[in-house]
Amino acid sequence: MQIKNSAVSMIIEASDQKELEEIKLQFLGRSGKLTLALKEIAKIPQEKRPEIGRLANDVKKIIEDTLGEKISNLKSQISNLTKEKIDTSAPGIKPNIGHLHPMTQVLYEVVDVFKGMGFQAADGPEIETDHYNFEVLNIPKYHPARDTQQTLYFDTRNSKVNPGEIILRTQTSAMQGRIMEKTKSPVRVIVPGKNFRYEQVDASHGFEFWQVEGFLVDKNVRLTDLFGTIDYVLKKLMGEGTQLKFATTNFPFVEPGVDTYIRCTVCKGKGCSFCKQSGWSEIMPAGMIHPNVLKAVGYDPQKVSGFAFAIGLSRLVTLRYQMDDLRLLTNPDLRILEQF
Ligand code: DAH
Repeated sequence: MQIKNSAVSMIIEASDQKELEEIKLQFLGRSGKLTLALKEIAKIPQEKRPEIGRLANDVKKIIEDTLGEKISNLKSQISNLTKEKIDTSAPGIKPNIGHLHPMTQVLYEVVDVFKGMGFQAADGPEIETDHYNFEVLNIPKYHPARDTQQTLYFDTRNSKVNPGEIILRTQTSAMQGRIMEKTKSPVRVIVPGKNFRYEQVDASHGFEFWQVEGFLVDKNVRLTDLFGTIDYVLKKLMGEGTQLKFATTNFPFVEPGVDTYIRCTVCKGKGCSFCKQSGWSEIMPAGMIHPNVLKAVGYDPQKVSGFAFAIGLSRLVTLRYQMDDLRLLTNPDLRILEQF
């Protein structure tokens, strides 16, 4: 009985054929436990022998049957495994890989185009002083041009700073002074960055928006150099067939000032809400740097001249991808972002 129980439980727990062979040997082999037990039968009294003999044979049969069953079980498991074929040529599951935001993609392109023309890219503070954001740029206190800049001021009441001196920059032009003060002419710099204004948010206005400011100062720089640069840059970024138009405008830090328009890519010039029904989209204000700015940064306007411009980056992206709402660019919805 004991032999039967231990043999059966060992067989059930065995996990491969080799183990089963060993168990078989251990119980049924020439010096196996059961074989030895059967030899002992000779020593017991004659009348008990047939009964014990039958019992021993039953045990032998049970062990053999259990072994046989286990072996065929193992075999069918193996054949099931080999039937389960793996198709190594089947396409895998595409992993979800992130990518750069459309704003960043276009920004990198803009930086590349300007690098190709010898411009360096610079970074600057988003928390700015009134001095660099306005004063250096020929926009003194109480100048009416300040009204258009919807400035967000920091509360400086408990500090030594004069009221109104610390602001969120409203324009990346603020970097003109910071860079030119420290750099001798000639300079060619672009400054991509975020600006902030107290604006009513709608399809074409944000309270925070990206600009790429750029400026170049050297000897004999003329308005036609500015036109040529803008023409080259916008055709590179928006396609060779891009139609441009310039119009005069006024910014205190440039003279003359120009606005650059491109044919609206949303309506192809027919007129839509994005271009305010005009067929043209304003994309890049610019101008010849005002002599007062050159003086304020320590340059001599008799010796050098230059131009400055600002690309509305969010606008460039929405025009490029024909989006009719700027707010899509700050929407984290993956169904939008995955389209770029
Ligand atoms: N900083 C101006 C603004 O955000 C845009 C601008 C106009 C920048 C003319 C320039 C420029 O560099 O020449 O309103």
